[in-house]
Amino acid sequence: MPNIAFLNGRFMPLSRAKVSVEDRGFQFGDGVYELIRTYDGHPFHMREHIRRLGRSAEALQIRNPYTEKVWARYVLQGMKKSGYPNAKIYIQVTRGAAPRVHWFPERARPTAVMTVRKFVPLPEAMRTRGVSVITVPDIRWARCNAKSLNLVPNTLAREEARRKGAFEALFIRDGYVMEGGGSNVFVRVGRTLLTPPEGPFILSGITREAVLGLAKEVGVEVTERPVRESELLSADEVFLTGTTVEVLPVVRINQKRVGSGKPGETARLLYARFRLTVGS
Ligand code: PDD
Repeated sequence: MPNIAFLNGRFMPLSRAKVSVEDRGFQFGDGVYELIRTYDGHPFHMREHIRRLGRSAEALQIRNPYTEKVWARYVLQGMKKSGYPNAKIYIQVTRGAAPRVHWFPERARPTAVMTVRKFVPLPEAMRTRGVSVITVPDIRWARCNAKSLNLVPNTLAREEARRKGAFEALFIRDGYVMEGGGSNVFVRVGRTLLTPPEGPFILSGITREAVLGLAKEVGVEVTERPVRESELLSADEVFLTGTTVEVLPVVRINQKRVGSGKPGETARLLYARFRLTVGS
């Protein structure tokens, strides 16, 4: 059974999983999600992802149907059933299916969905050459720390990036860079490595946190403070972190070169360290 779905406690082939058109995830984007990646059969920071799912659900006042322990068991089961050693596991929890009203319906029970597919790594050339990004105005809401299903601003931003031949779009709010459409951002100015602080306008990335830990281990000091757009645009080095991108160097912003136009030393060092921790 390769591509697997899990729906409210039951596993099935992905093609067989169906949710109601009245599900509030579909009607309102009224739900939360996580993406967990596995490396050689080991989920990366599973507990942190499951914990963040709980925090996101709490922020949206959605009842989390399972404890952390039960979620962990389901994730491991899904991975085993799929047989993919390197899998991407999406979890979604919505407020459930109910006739459409904006307020919380009394009877709705949360819908819990998980899908397990093969993880296809980014092309190696993107790592060795680095990627291009664009900047876009941040039109998102003030609960970006909750990983909600409301991703329309992110899809618009990343589609604009794609049309411009870029990999990612970085959100700019009031003259400061926040994060990417699906990644966090690190910026090196001279010898100072900066990353925007946690708060309502960025997702507290699990990879961001892991990379902060790795930086400490190798003696790279990181300052968590607001990063001006002007600092981003004149940076010596920029890189992204995230479940899919891991640590990915940025070599162009809005078609202008970052530093020398080559992937930076810090990204290279932290990526090498990152690979050691994931064991491949
Ligand atoms: N997104 N910021 C945003 C807006 C994101 O969507 C993501 C990840 C991150 C990085 O978080 P983490 O390190 O925990 O993956 C930051 C996932 C990959 C997605 O939407 O598929």
